[in-house]
Amino acid sequence: MSSRQLTLHIFRYNPETPKQQPTTQTYLLQEEPGMTLFIALNKIREEQDPGLKFDFVCRAGICGSCGMLINGRPTLACRTLTKDLPANITLMPLPVFKLLGDLSVDTGTWFRDVSVRTEAWVHTDKAFIPDAQEERMDNETAQQIYEVERCIECGCCIGGCATANIKPNFIGAAGVNRLSRFMIDPRDERNEQEYFDVVGSEDGIFGCIGLMACDDNCPIGIPLQGQLAYVRRKMALAGWRR
Ligand code: SF4
Ligand code: SF4
Ligand code: FES
Repeated sequence: MSSRQLTLHIFRYNPETPKQQPTTQTYLLQEEPGMTLFIALNKIREEQDPGLKFDFVCRAGICGSCGMLINGRPTLACRTLTKDLPANITLMPLPVFKLLGDLSVDTGTWFRDVSVRTEAWVHTDKAFIPDAQEERMDNETAQQIYEVERCIECGCCIGGCATANIKPNFIGAAGVNRLSRFMIDPRDERNEQEYFDVVGSEDGIFGCIGLMACDDNCPIGIPLQGQLAYVRRKMALAGWRR
């Protein structure tokens, strides 16, 4: 069976040369069996355009660095097989994040900022005793924390979120999910009012319009819908008590 010719329309822009307008560049590529967009982009870079910018580290859906808009949908390029796409493929960088060039965006600064603003670490007054035994936790709680901690910070839920696209400080589903991990953790001694201070606002859970694009777009299948509902319930109650 003869292979398809793919036509890739790729966003090009270098923020360091702002006088040059953003463009869409078209590349033709022969499809190969088992080809992912990771392979396709590397072939283009090796054979046609060494200057094309995009990010990959693990190629296995683990590092979260290859999120981009693939025919308008935010997802991981390394886990996308070209055979599952039409022959015309449009690639754009994820919106919301700072553009570094072409398909490469800076998700790290965004996620760090959200972690700092939501104080995403275990808050406890207990002194740290290095040679003490680890605290025990029941299996069910540990599993719940494990489930939400699988986030690879790829930014797909943020790039496809209507609120995040218009409100620069909105922490998005990834931010809410991360904070929910501490609400579940019995070692975190924050009370509901302290959580309300960091997430009970329009930049936090109350900015979410609940259409669940994030849940559809998470390539890892984190139950974002459930986590958003969990935090919304807790914070609505905290707001009412306040
Ligand atoms: S449900 Fe909320 S967080 Fe998820 S995409 Fe919609 S507005 Fe964004
Ligand atoms: S919640 Fe899912 S889509 Fe959002 S950053 Fe984490 S892994 Fe990516
Ligand atoms: S390259 Fe690591 S998730 Fe795609």
